[in-house]
Amino acid sequence: MAHDFDDDSCNHSTNEHFQTVLSQALENPSRRRLIQGGFGLATLSGLAMLPGCASVGQSAAAGKAAALGFASVDKSILDNVILPPGYSFKILHASGDPLNASVPAYSNRGVESDDWSARIGDQHDGMDIYYIDAAGKYSVKDTGRAVLSVNHESSAEAHFLHAKGQTSNGISGRKFDQFGQWDLGTRPELEVLKEINLHGVSVVELSKTAAGWSYKLDSPLNRRVTAQTPVRITGPSAHLADIRALMATRYDRSGATSRGTLNNCGHGKTPWGTYLACEENWAVYFQMPLGSNPVDAKAMASRKRYGVVNTPLTSANKAERSQGWHTVSTTDDRFARWNIAAVGATAAEDFRNEPNTFGFNVEIDPLAPNAVPAKRVAMGRFAHEAAVCGLPKVGAPLAFYMGCDSRNEYIYKFVSTALWDAKDVGGGMAAGDKYLSEGKLYAAKFNADGKGQWIEMTFADPRIANHTAYRFANQADVLVNARHAADALGATKMDRPEWGAVNHSNGEIYFALTNNNASNRTPVKVDAANPRAYMDADGKKGAGNPNGHIIRFKEDGHSSTAMGFAWDIFVFGAEEDAGAANLSGLTAKNAFSSPDGLWFSKATGICWIQTDDGAMTDETNCMLLAAVPGQVGDGGKITVSNTMTVNGAQVTGKQDTFIGAALGEARLRRFLVAPKGAEVTGITETEDGKTLFVNIQHPGENTPAMGAAAQYTLESGWPANQGYGPVGRPRSATLVITRQDGGLIGV
Ligand code: FEO
Ligand code: CA
Ligand code: CA
Repeated sequence: MAHDFDDDSCNHSTNEHFQTVLSQALENPSRRRLIQGGFGLATLSGLAMLPGCASVGQSAAAGKAAALGFASVDKSILDNVILPPGYSFKILHASGDPLNASVPAYSNRGVESDDWSARIGDQHDGMDIYYIDAAGKYSVKDTGRAVLSVNHESSAEAHFLHAKGQTSNGISGRKFDQFGQWDLGTRPELEVLKEINLHGVSVVELSKTAAGWSYKLDSPLNRRVTAQTPVRITGPSAHLADIRALMATRYDRSGATSRGTLNNCGHGKTPWGTYLACEENWAVYFQMPLGSNPVDAKAMASRKRYGVVNTPLTSANKAERSQGWHTVSTTDDRFARWNIAAVGATAAEDFRNEPNTFGFNVEIDPLAPNAVPAKRVAMGRFAHEAAVCGLPKVGAPLAFYMGCDSRNEYIYKFVSTALWDAKDVGGGMAAGDKYLSEGKLYAAKFNADGKGQWIEMTFADPRIANHTAYRFANQADVLVNARHAADALGATKMDRPEWGAVNHSNGEIYFALTNNNASNRTPVKVDAANPRAYMDADGKKGAGNPNGHIIRFKEDGHSSTAMGFAWDIFVFGAEEDAGAANLSGLTAKNAFSSPDGLWFSKATGICWIQTDDGAMTDETNCMLLAAVPGQVGDGGKITVSNTMTVNGAQVTGKQDTFIGAALGEARLRRFLVAPKGAEVTGITETEDGKTLFVNIQHPGENTPAMGAAAQYTLESGWPANQGYGPVGRPRSATLVITRQDGGLIGV
């Protein structure tokens, strides 16, 4: 199997597992009350959605949840997008489509001679829509004219961009996500430029006609932000000098600017109308070549916790764990910047600090093509999956909820110092500077009693100041090495936090915990918030928590500044025949595995769940499901019985947890199944709820690396096989889904 870019695990801290959580639970009488309340509501599980919560300031209409109104789609291993009867899709754009008419149409044979900087990026991921009013300004209302901002996650499928796969040392037919197979040697400049530019964000203008939404070639709003685009480094004013000292490179010795964004996975939309492109598993692009100088011990400790290479290659270990971009040139900084060895006399003369410039939420104003994007260091540096703004309340701070996507990583919250002022809607990057520079960063601790705490990440906390695995110098260091800081504070290790989402009707926050493996979860290494350890039904994805779950929480007092919250588990992924592991009672009609994308429709209140799965792929491709949400506490306490084979011996254990009311086929249905090898990721809708945009990422993911063009469609020929674009290789794409009768999607 190819090494998954998302598949890192760098948390070697000793933060708590179930023994401590369990002992706390037994001592805590408040659990009893919560359990009793939960059981009462559980018996009412049905279609009814709870009414909107007036205290969060939403209009009554927003997020109302109706009954699902479509027939669940069966599992599918076809190489097609499958939708329920009555629905159809068009493709808005796919990897390589031009932004401008002066750029040739995409060949899909890898013969482009341009550097891709004016083409749609690859690996479509998180996205959002921004309407434009008659004056050309941001509008919260649908005007029939908009831009769509789309993340492009990784270069794992870059072999499809070149005529004969990726080339290194003159040998073609390679695939760089197969780490450890690489000879030392140079890569061709044009291949590398294409790979750098396939990353980042694409912004294209959309217009609505009688035929639906389509994108407009040559709009002055069409824009690419890539791994090469200049960006600003921003942060709290009291710590900005220290932050920039950590970012100093040969490109900008002051550390005030850096270049580009990488591995943009989930996203965020700010209340003022900008886009947050979140930098997820960006760590694998760097290299320390054979014979290069090491970095100092502190930098090594920092890099280790982020999965960044921290020692030079040796003659015994020449395996390239990078894309080899640094091999093009040692003098041209577009390429030399990926070599993070200490090649200069000081950090300001080389790129040893380059990894410090990635791992942030990157704010982009989609309606201002000349506005310089900003890295929001105040929101912490980790593998940012997505940034979800809680429901904004005028006069109160804003809260953004963020996951760190690797196994055993944490959930974080950023609370702005500035109080929300609705006059800032349309305020662009200046509003971003106001809300996202100053604030407090917290890590989440989920307790065994169904409650949790936000722990502030401050250098003033002695646990951080005295942390030994990494010696923090100051608050800037805490923000830039947030994973280490969260370790010090005892945050709860989660089963790989993927997207978060906010339920617009009541302000509750949901997080997809996609899965975890057998080295992290066994029956004696679980906790209440990550309570399952079992064997995959047919052993395809091993053991641990192979199918994942979705956790949700409610801030105390519905307040952005709450220090505590209540949580339960909305739903557990499982195969329907998984026995005791199928805790949510899934059936063949709604079984799913490895939830990843997560998003609530404002128009219908549906909670949309997208999967990126490797455990059920013998039975079905990845999918999009619709769920009717309910609320925290509508289920009750359960005891999970865990059974797993560990080192050849059967191990059993029990873990108490809290689960939402059963969903059943009435409240959870499969809406879409993707083509072969694809994950479903990225979702947004038009204001009327009648057009749904959904991204299909990396069809043909398991296609072997090879040079013969005819073999590139061995796994998938999508989307050409469904009528879009030239036949050649599989491509990521944005779907535009509508109901044939023009009605609301999903209800
Ligand atoms: Fe990019 Fe965490 O999936
Ligand atoms: Ca994903
Ligand atoms: Ca399986």
